[in-house]
Amino acid sequence: MPRGVFITLEGGEGAGKTTLARRLAEALALAGQPVLRTREPGGAPGAEALRALLLSGDVAWDPVAEAMLMFAARREHVAKTIEPALAAGAWVICDRFADSTLAYQCHGHGLDPAVWHGLYDVALPGFEPDLTLVLDLPAEAGMARAVARGAPDRFERLGPEFHARVREAFRRIAEADPRRCALLDALLPPEPLYAEAAKVLRSRLGAPL
Ligand SMILES: Nc1ncnc2c1ncn2[C@@H]1O[C@H](COP(=O)(O)OP(=O)(O)OP(=O)(O)O)[C@@H](O)[C@H]1O
Ligand SMILES: [Mg+2]
Repeated sequence: MPRGVFITLEGGEGAGKTTLARRLAEALALAGQPVLRTREPGGAPGAEALRALLLSGDVAWDPVAEAMLMFAARREHVAKTIEPALAAGAWVICDRFADSTLAYQCHGHGLDPAVWHGLYDVALPGFEPDLTLVLDLPAEAGMARAVARGAPDRFERLGPEFHARVREAFRRIAEADPRRCALLDALLPPEPLYAEAAKVLRSRLGAPL
């Protein structure tokens, strides 16, 4: 049984990650490829418990403590869900992963990137996605989509400068690691965006799409 491949989808709020993850998972499954779709934070029982803690808003976390919890959840997710699926030959599509912590906590909120690197090395030594699709969307377009969904609150609370920094961070992450990452234009409508993503999966991973 060949090992599966690990694909992550990254990008700002409303960039279309979940829509594209669903579409890719559906197409791979249709082509006969066992596939697991998952998302962060969460994706395993312990990680879901931590997700509830992190997203409840009940605690004003110290930024380093928050990042530690994110990586604790991530390690649990990899150990209990992602690794077993890859070992069984499944292709795993994960909606957000470690790059989101770097973009949001470090570039968005000002956490020292050295903390991110240190936690990554402890939690996931030698582990990284085979492919990361970075969905690049101008902050204003993300805001417009949030309004269209009737849920602009979170977007507005963090402010346009925050979202612009996060966008820039994702672009830099993709630029710094072109072997792992592919930057996609998330202004494309869903089907053309899927076609671009499928092209990348075919050429880099030999996906049956
Ligand atoms: N390629 C696209 N073009 C235009 N609109 C899109 C596209 N993909 C998704 N949308 C719409 O934009 C909104 C956000 O999409 P989606 O939930 O997939 O984004 P997301 O990146 O997962 O967002 P979040 O960060 O909030 O989880 C939805 O209303 C969806 O229908
Ligand atoms: Mg989503």
